[in-house]
Amino acid sequence: MNLTPQSIQSIKETVPLIRAQAENVTTRMYEILFTKYPQTKPLFANATSDQHKKLAGAIAAFAGNVDNLPMLSAAVEKMATAHVATEVKPDHYPMVADALITAMGDVLGDAFTDERKSAWIEGYTFLAGILIQRERQLYAQQN
Ligand code: HEM
Repeated sequence: MNLTPQSIQSIKETVPLIRAQAENVTTRMYEILFTKYPQTKPLFANATSDQHKKLAGAIAAFAGNVDNLPMLSAAVEKMATAHVATEVKPDHYPMVADALITAMGDVLGDAFTDERKSAWIEGYTFLAGILIQRERQLYAQQN
């Protein structure tokens, strides 16, 4: 699956809005994630970097660079390595999706239009697919 130019455009439009509210989106996202999906909490118990706090920014940067392959693969490698080290599994992705998209709606309000929301779901799904695939390879190499 590839992102449509319209989706990339919609995602890029929301990037400055998210940057301006990054802290609020992140706080709300983890609030939803840990309340609704408490099983994800232990994964963050030994969090060594605060990079993940920039999840929304990471996804935005990423989605906005889907046409920039070199940037894409370096970032994927870093994220996939961090995820495998903390035992992130494919089942966790829909939980983060739900928490992130809901948090964005809560914080951005009307600015998070239906069109932007669908674009974000598409962008997240695209990125999740790439990460899950790479993480599967890394898990397989461990055995
Ligand atoms: C498309 C979705 C996701 C993106 C873009 C993303 C992004 C990132 C980034 C940028 C990092 C930091 C990598 C580094 O250390 O350089 C990270 C780490 C991490 N991610 Fe994700 N992530 C995603 C999905 C998930 C999911 C589904 C989970 C599980 C609930 C998860 C849990 C974690 C954990 C536990 C870490 C390590 C945190 C630490 O050690 O500080 N992520 N992720």
